[in-house]
Amino acid sequence: MFELFTNKKKKKQLSKESGIERVTIQNINNFAVTEGYKQLRTNLMFLMGANDSNIIEFSSSFAGEGKSVTSANSAIAIAQASQNVLLIDCDLRKPVQHKVFGLKNEMGLSTILGKMSTFENTVNKNAVPNLDVITSGPIPPNPSELFASEKMKKFLETVSQQYDYVVLDTPPINLVTDALELSKYSGGLVLVVRHGVTTYDDIKRSLGAANFVDVNVLGVVLNGVQDAKLAYKKGYKKYGYGKYGYSRYGYGGYDTDNREKKKSKK
Ligand SMILES: Nc1ncnc2c1ncn2[C@@H]1O[C@H](COP(=O)(O)OP(=O)(O)O)[C@@H](O)[C@H]1O
Ligand SMILES: [Mg+2]
Repeated sequence: MFELFTNKKKKKQLSKESGIERVTIQNINNFAVTEGYKQLRTNLMFLMGANDSNIIEFSSSFAGEGKSVTSANSAIAIAQASQNVLLIDCDLRKPVQHKVFGLKNEMGLSTILGKMSTFENTVNKNAVPNLDVITSGPIPPNPSELFASEKMKKFLETVSQQYDYVVLDTPPINLVTDALELSKYSGGLVLVVRHGVTTYDDIKRSLGAANFVDVNVLGVVLNGVQDAKLAYKKGYKKYGYGKYGYSRYGYGGYDTDNREKKKSKK
């Protein structure tokens, strides 16, 4: 059984952490991590196979739990299976995908929705092979309104026809409504929880909110597991949410060792 204990200090620290640059599975040579993502990819592709929509949304309860890292790496893992994937940074509050992939962010989702750029001149083609990325663009004053707009709906409809999979990185569910707003358009939501940080209450609240708007919860990714044995232990546990299961896909904390080393040097 995993411990998902309350760790307020760690939570605070994680939400401020930077260092997201190029933390993709292409740059991290860690067998446990890449295997974890392959497993996640397989599960996602099976789960989405039963769906009409090819849009997968990633979210979590709070900031710093690993939504952006997990959505980026899942998108890469799916692209590595020869699928055409589009990753969209829908976190128009604290966007990071441009940093993850080392891209410019003058244009992105916000400029497309604000009719200041077109998809064609905004998309970053082949950020990695088979994976195109739309960064957030400049932070707009009204993200929720943009997501609720007809333009967003049409945009996602169009891109979902052009790609095999569309992956959305979103803001935290327990802080703003954007992720739930976006779930209207997606085929399913993957909830990212961080080992040792996310509490059962956080998860309950997020799943409760998802349940309220009738989102299809595909499963839960357990991010930051450092125990290799734990990381490989797969399981499926009913989590007391009716139709929602609680799937556990663990993988090792990819750079935790370095992070610890850096800290101890200071
Ligand atoms: N498994 C992990 N091990 C170590 N650091 C991680 C892990 N997952 C995420 N991080 C780091 O934590 C920070 C927050 O991750 P991020 O994906 O931006 O979270 P969110 O999108 O949920 O706010 C980033 O600096 C990221 O590099
Ligand atoms: Mg994020």
